[in-house]
Amino acid sequence: MTDRLPPEFVSRALERIKPSLTISVTQQARALKAAGRDVIGLGAGEPDFDTPDNIKEAAIAAIRRGETKYTAVEGIPELQRAIAGKFRRENNLDYRLSQIFVAPGGKAVIYTALTATLNPGDEVIVLAPYWVSYPDIVLLAGGKPVIVETNLQAGFRLTPEALDRAITPRTKWLIFNQPCNPTGACYTREQLRALAGVLLAHPHVWVLTDDMYEHLIYENFAFLTMAEAEQRLMPRTVTMNGVSKAYAMTGWRIGYCGAPEPLVREMAKLQSQTVSNASSVSQWAAVEALNGPQDFILKFQQAFEARRDLVVSMLNQAHGLECIKPQGAFYVYPSIRNLIGKSSPQGTVIRSDEDFVRQLLEQEGVAVVQGAAFGLSPFFRLSYATSSDLLEDACRRIQRFCANLS
Ligand SMILES: Cc1ncc(COP(=O)(O)O)c(C=O)c1O
Repeated sequence: MTDRLPPEFVSRALERIKPSLTISVTQQARALKAAGRDVIGLGAGEPDFDTPDNIKEAAIAAIRRGETKYTAVEGIPELQRAIAGKFRRENNLDYRLSQIFVAPGGKAVIYTALTATLNPGDEVIVLAPYWVSYPDIVLLAGGKPVIVETNLQAGFRLTPEALDRAITPRTKWLIFNQPCNPTGACYTREQLRALAGVLLAHPHVWVLTDDMYEHLIYENFAFLTMAEAEQRLMPRTVTMNGVSKAYAMTGWRIGYCGAPEPLVREMAKLQSQTVSNASSVSQWAAVEALNGPQDFILKFQQAFEARRDLVVSMLNQAHGLECIKPQGAFYVYPSIRNLIGKSSPQGTVIRSDEDFVRQLLEQEGVAVVQGAAFGLSPFFRLSYATSSDLLEDACRRIQRFCANLS
């Protein structure tokens, strides 16, 4: 017996993809911690807050009522109604219940939408730096990711010119995520309308907007989703969202979207033969999340905004780092361009962001994720979804690490 399957036993589709790098960094940090090292993990992408009590109570009540059976594939009508209400209230979008689809997590919504539509050779535009799963989900679904790089000077935002250049007759989707994981970049109405202008000129291109971090937005930035900025795109837009980040519910696994009804039907066909439905109990919890009090969102926002300000200020004081202040999400994406080629006191040369991240973990016990994982180097992603005390300690260690490079 070996600990590997014979290669011919493993699906060809799996050869195209790799395990999530952000999860592997988290595991590496956990292993070092278990071995007794003093490690601060800033790799994870989840809020450190607990799910609010009213949401937990709604789930407990659902269990007691016996809501423990299979549900409709597309989700329980009560949750579909809550989602339609959310889209109307917060995004000025009118979706009928037949246009609402619920899946076990936002990731499952993306996977289902792409798998339901991609054929070999179909192209999907993905902006770099990207959330690590997009290219792999596209590859798994048999499509071809077309990576369009953004840059620090443009605030990591897609420009209409770059979008226009990337579109070909084979383009099926643009995946559009804001606030962006990993950069936190957001778009104004004017910027969205400029991009929408390009999309209107290419009617074969659909848009999948990933609005997962919609509520993690700072300084009263006015979040707009693409279909709200340009209603004419509604018939070819999937507006994806979920409760994971806004309501600190990553483990409950509920994501959803509003989409044209014929696409929802295809997605339901696929889901009916895979996971059947999202957990019944989690769906009832999500009803409470969307319909219940929303005041703690403001509390989350205020805490995250203070942490963002702390982290950006301290990183910009670190020798050689360059960090812009993003308007959303809970990540920063500093450049280490000025540190490439420098050596640690032990004589290790930093040749890439992977070297930087490895050395930082080994020498200072701070776990972050290299930009290479997100398709744009030389940067790293730091998640500030942890306490200010830990963040301050971590940033001090990063400052010391950078100061010691020569
Ligand atoms: C941009 C983005 N989209 C989607 C997801 C997935 O969310 P969920 O946990 O609901 O599957 C994440 C999670 O990290 C994310 O960062």
